[in-house]
Amino acid sequence: NESENYSSQVQPPGTNRRIPQSIIIGVRKGGTRALLEMLDIHPEIVVATTEVHFFDWDENYAKGFEWYKNLMPFSYENQITVEKTPGYFTSSLSPERIHEMNSSIKLLLILRDPTERVISDYTQVYYNRLENHKPVQVIEEIVIRNGVLNTKYKAIQRSLYDVHMENWLKYFSLDQIHIVDGDTLIRDPLPELQKVEKFLNLRPRIMSSNFYFNQTKGFYCIRSEGRERCLHESKGRPHPMVNSTVLEQLQAYFKDHNQNFYRMVNRSFDWH
Ligand code: A3P
Repeated sequence: NESENYSSQVQPPGTNRRIPQSIIIGVRKGGTRALLEMLDIHPEIVVATTEVHFFDWDENYAKGFEWYKNLMPFSYENQITVEKTPGYFTSSLSPERIHEMNSSIKLLLILRDPTERVISDYTQVYYNRLENHKPVQVIEEIVIRNGVLNTKYKAIQRSLYDVHMENWLKYFSLDQIHIVDGDTLIRDPLPELQKVEKFLNLRPRIMSSNFYFNQTKGFYCIRSEGRERCLHESKGRPHPMVNSTVLEQLQAYFKDHNQNFYRMVNRSFDWH
């Protein structure tokens, strides 16, 4: 329940609200919800279900750390609180602000092929606009303006991972930022989650029996504490067919940025 109001929850004895020891900082459409819900399987992880937007929205940041802490769920001392707000990764103020709160925090960043991310981002906005009875455009009309790539398009800007990563590396060392491969998380979630357990120094408690493939949804769903659930229907929506020359233009534009990103993080990905 995204609109859950934590402040009205009953406090179980021995628990407290704690500032997160780990934050999923993005990227938008990278698979942030899947990562959060899958980590929530772990008994030593508690998650804030709502996107808090504390570090990226000035009006929230102005409310202070106590306000932020009060939005966190109750946890026992041995548990790790995790918050996710995908907007942090592309917000230039977030790294410094998070560092100021806790300079030894462990950051989780889930990324996927930048071209695929643009299409996913477009698809989300497309459905939001449809629901709000606003006019929609086909993706090609937005991505190409007067025959050239519209590099000002926000969805393209958000996929420039090197540009955003540079801001984070000013405040955090590479070993504080664990990158989850969002493309792999879709195909085979367990190994990616086991890497996160290691990064967070947690015992391995997430198992293959926690996942089952749902043919109708076309994605893995979660089995935990006797319940089975898939992500919300807005996650894993079919993408539009995109004109192949437009796809190639996007891929060409991201190529150098991707190479630069691989160098920055000493790791490569099989993005186009
Ligand atoms: P699409 O809806 O474009 O396929 P976010 O939560 O950051 O908005 O990311 C949404 C993306 O998570 C989805 O994008 C989907 O591809 C991906 N995803 C990863 N694992 C998933 C899962 N098990 N179920 C649904 N979507 C998943």
